Amino acid sequence: MKNKSVVILSGAGISAESGLGTFRDSDGLWEQYDLNEVATIDGWHRNPALVLDFYDQRREQVLRAQPNTAHLALKELERLYDVTIITQNIDDLHERAGSSKIIHLHGEILKGRSVKTDRELYPVKTSIKLGDLAPDGHQLRPHVVWFGEEVPKMVEAENVVRKADILIVVGTSLNVYPAAGLRYAVKNHATCYLVDPNEMNITDQHFYHYQGNACAMIPLLVEELLAK
Ligand code: APR
Repeated sequence: MKNKSVVILSGAGISAESGLGTFRDSDGLWEQYDLNEVATIDGWHRNPALVLDFYDQRREQVLRAQPNTAHLALKELERLYDVTIITQNIDDLHERAGSSKIIHLHGEILKGRSVKTDRELYPVKTSIKLGDLAPDGHQLRPHVVWFGEEVPKMVEAENVVRKADILIVVGTSLNVYPAAGLRYAVKNHATCYLVDPNEMNITDQHFYHYQGNACAMIPLLVEELLAK
């Protein structure tokens, strides 16, 4: 029997319990940094060294972090379902938890690319400094999608969501488009779940809301889905 397809749309909240900050919570990254200085193409042109330092710090934190029980539970879901993870996160915690199919909409902090093209990616395990060049001779930059840049994997992600029998949205404030709009690509027959400690107030689409932290709620939801 073809396994039902489950699509997960994850955001910073799923990595919060691994010690990685979210963006828009009260102690979030955008309270500590000016988003326009460190996460936009204009910020890069104005002060590339500041941007490189910002991502060096986040890369160090990712390397120190471990996948948590929510990441690991999503891997378990693959026992009975065809699971695709579409994440807005640039960490590699879904990979390290063992998930097989992962689409990074906003890039990957452990990869770098030339400022000239995103066709070639290079592993980055430590830092990127001004003067570090890609093989094409141009400056290396984090393989991260900045505000104002294209989200190259959106079409692929939409096609995956269209085929979903189950959609699980976890740890995202659904503030940032086009990623946040993915939920509208789901078919009417699909069952939608939301895992988030906040109210969220989504009124235009039905979600079963597992209100709580990812490490409490995702293992619970996965257990229920595996018991079906
Ligand atoms: N478990 C589950 N959800 C949590 C937890 C937790 N332990 N802690 C916080 N959350 C929820 C918050 O309630 C919020 O809804 O995670 C969400 C985090 O929202 P944001 O900080 O806006 O993060 P995200 O939605 O991933 O941001 C999207 O914005 O800055 C850009 O590129 C960046 O990919 C990011 C995008």
